[in-house]
Amino acid sequence: MNESALLHTRRHLLAGMTIGTAALAVPGLFSISSLFAEELMLTPRQTEGPFYPDHLPLDTDNDLIIVNDDITPAVGEITHLSGRILDSKGNPIRDALVEIWQVDHNGIYLHSGSNNLAARDRNFQGFGRFLTGSSGEYYFRTIKPTLYPGRTRHIHFAIKIKDRDKWTTQCYVKGEPQNERDFVLKGITDLKARESVIVDFSPVKGSRIGELAARFDIVLGFTPEG
Ligand SMILES: [Fe+2]
Repeated sequence: MNESALLHTRRHLLAGMTIGTAALAVPGLFSISSLFAEELMLTPRQTEGPFYPDHLPLDTDNDLIIVNDDITPAVGEITHLSGRILDSKGNPIRDALVEIWQVDHNGIYLHSGSNNLAARDRNFQGFGRFLTGSSGEYYFRTIKPTLYPGRTRHIHFAIKIKDRDKWTTQCYVKGEPQNERDFVLKGITDLKARESVIVDFSPVKGSRIGELAARFDIVLGFTPEG
């Protein structure tokens, strides 16, 4: 066989391999794409920011309106904030420690570096924790976050799962005009991903004190082992 015949044969072989591989791959490709279609939009990660409490409060429960056994509640629009911690297939993740932190009604964090600390609402816990059970649900009673200079309304989240790095994001209030100008929120360039962190803070029917409810599901891109 001369050189060109050899090349010709090799080309045929390669062509045959390509077709063969493609033919074999097609059923696989279909199943892979349908698998992706079933997967949920992953919640985008967002920066932890500078105001994770530098001294944790003595009370770290999921009710941020009442500190310890005080009678006086925090000032603000009471919000029932709940959701589920899910893996990318929509399965609930149990034993996830959900932490939130946010400003009080004066726009002040529970952090020594926050502005105007003297005006901080001592009745607002500023930080809370919730450990998920088998449903992956979390729940906090908090206030609708207020504005502070340079940011739109937001609540910080950290999710801590055994043997994993801390995972952080932020949740935003639908309809807030400042959302359009917020550099952290707009840092999520994919619009669908950006929308997934903006949620309704809607009035609770029948509440005489104007309580709100917000639902924020967090979809993580991994499945914890065990
Ligand atoms: Fe913040």
